[in-house]
Amino acid sequence: MPDPITAPYIERYIDSLLPPRDPLLAEVEAHAREQRLPIVGPAEGRFLSLLAQLYRPQRILELGCCTGYSALWLAAATEGTGATIETVELDAQRAEVAAANFRKSPHGERITLRRGNALEILPGLAAGAYDLVFNDLLRSGAGESGGVPHQVQFLEHSVRLLKAGGVLLSDNVLCGGQVAEDAPTGTAAGIAEYNRRLFQHPDLETALVPVRDGVAISLKRP
Ligand SMILES: C[S@@+](CC[C@H](N)C(=O)[O-])C[C@H]1O[C@@H](n2cnc3c(N)ncnc32)[C@H](O)[C@@H]1O
Repeated sequence: MPDPITAPYIERYIDSLLPPRDPLLAEVEAHAREQRLPIVGPAEGRFLSLLAQLYRPQRILELGCCTGYSALWLAAATEGTGATIETVELDAQRAEVAAANFRKSPHGERITLRRGNALEILPGLAAGAYDLVFNDLLRSGAGESGGVPHQVQFLEHSVRLLKAGGVLLSDNVLCGGQVAEDAPTGTAAGIAEYNRRLFQHPDLETALVPVRDGVAISLKRP
């Protein structure tokens, strides 16, 4: 997990309030701790879960699956609604672990794992098809293409894929606080540009919540 932007004692306090997770989520968390994998963690998992319960999306697209932790939270949050979750993962080993986790989950049948590079997969998905897009690829090292940071490309894809009235959740928008520096570089510069565009986009209304590494919530205007 990235360094939290909130003081560690506050993070510990928030974590101490959380009820125990179900055995599968607890197992995926423990594995991520051991392997130092960048999953959202329980406090943000619960935040995503609550947003999904409030918004009640039917089709969810997640960019960045890792071993399936956040997808499992979203699937549990939409239990009984018939909602589907599609999630994309580039790393073959992580995708294998995610697929095994989905097989163990009572919600696994509603989750589709798309293996490969999101930059190649997203252009093939139908415009306006999703009620909720969770972008967890901002700190990934996909790099630039034609001088456009990958973060900006993910924003353009996400807006195209969302239906009017849909919600885009973007993780790691504070990038450990580096986006607030005078002249961020590398990944932080790409995320700072993403944030600028997110807030200025004519089709989006955005708020930034400083939970964990920063989550932006954007509504695609109807
Ligand atoms: C922050 S992690 C996702 C964590 C996950 N959402 C969770 O909380 O359980 C980002 C994941 O995206 C994957 N990834 C990086 N670049 C990618 C790309 N271009 N396309 C698809 N997946 C990518 C990484 O291998 C990594 O597992």
